[in-house]
Amino acid sequence: MKEINVLVTGAAGQIGYALLTRLASGETFGKDTKVNLNLVEVPQVASKLEGSRMELEDCGFNALGEIKSFSDINEASGDIDWALLVGSIPRGITINGKKIEERADLLKINGGIFTEQGKALGENAKQNAKILVVGNPANTNALIGCTHGNNSTQTWMAMTALDSNRAKAQVANKCNVAISDIKKMTIWGNHSPTMYPDLDNAEINNESVSTLINDKSWIEKDFLQIVQQRGKAIIDARGASSATSAANAAIDTVKATLSETAEDDWFSAAVMSDGSYNVPEGIIFGFPLRTNASGEISIVQNLPISEYAQDKINLTTQELLDEKKDVSDLL
Ligand code: NAD
Ligand code: LMR
Repeated sequence: MKEINVLVTGAAGQIGYALLTRLASGETFGKDTKVNLNLVEVPQVASKLEGSRMELEDCGFNALGEIKSFSDINEASGDIDWALLVGSIPRGITINGKKIEERADLLKINGGIFTEQGKALGENAKQNAKILVVGNPANTNALIGCTHGNNSTQTWMAMTALDSNRAKAQVANKCNVAISDIKKMTIWGNHSPTMYPDLDNAEINNESVSTLINDKSWIEKDFLQIVQQRGKAIIDARGASSATSAANAAIDTVKATLSETAEDDWFSAAVMSDGSYNVPEGIIFGFPLRTNASGEISIVQNLPISEYAQDKINLTTQELLDEKKDVSDLL
């Protein structure tokens, strides 16, 4: 049996709880791959993590290998193939009398976590390790981690698959089609209310979704607002941020990197900008991505961008440049 070493931070949190069984069940990496889990948490919740570990054991998954628990990221990061960095504070909670309203308000609180984690993964994880940042503000946390990782053969991503899934769900309802009929969904930019879900380049049966819907007002007002604000709507409804759907999107992202992307599709995640689409280098930006047969990830090039879309892309770019400036002391 093949083996894969997977690190999960924030493993005792709500996303962690939804994530672990799906990593261990054989669903994600295949039934022929044994999944060793390095679970990382702050020492205060060691007992809760032990409960999760016991439950995983009790699931009796054939694909589950060794489970180890850590509070030290340096010890946890040795030989890691895949790291899912979830551990961080969610918004919606009150800290020092101030309610955390926007993901960017978490910058100063969570950003610091990623300096040490980045360094540890850069030094100890495998050279071809893939790292997905889920903890918010995900793009800028990934930038901090990637900078401190300083390892050009590892791949850092921030999660926008949840936004892509949300966008597909809205389109499926509107067009009365199955989710699997919707291809090539792109989330440009930041995982924040400035993200831009692109229906011009998304397709149903090889036709542009925006052409098919042919309702500018729905696309530019209702759809955009729903997708950009879905995280807040869930917090307002649940009193806690999305967990099942976030874990599901993390699994979708991992799976998207494990095999070659279908000819007629791509996937969404934020990666280090290489200047594609005139997005400045040095920010972690949501792009349309493809995985090739060797497992390398690249940005889909030469998509048409309307003037309206370019304005939206400029807005989310500026927000990421501002966030970068705000954490310059951590870079
Ligand atoms: P949670 O509070 O339930 O769990 C977070 C866990 O992280 C806690 O158990 C905490 O002890 C742990 N933690 C904190 N600091 C840590 C550290 N330095 N090392 C290891 N673990 C640490 O929160 P949650 O609902 O699971 O959300 C986690 C993060 O994911 C939040 O920042 C949230 O905003 C974000 N999120 C992102 C997306 C996305 O689409 N990118 C979606 C949903 C949630
Ligand atoms: C989400 O989009 O659900 C997460 O980023 C949580 C949040 O703060 O919105």
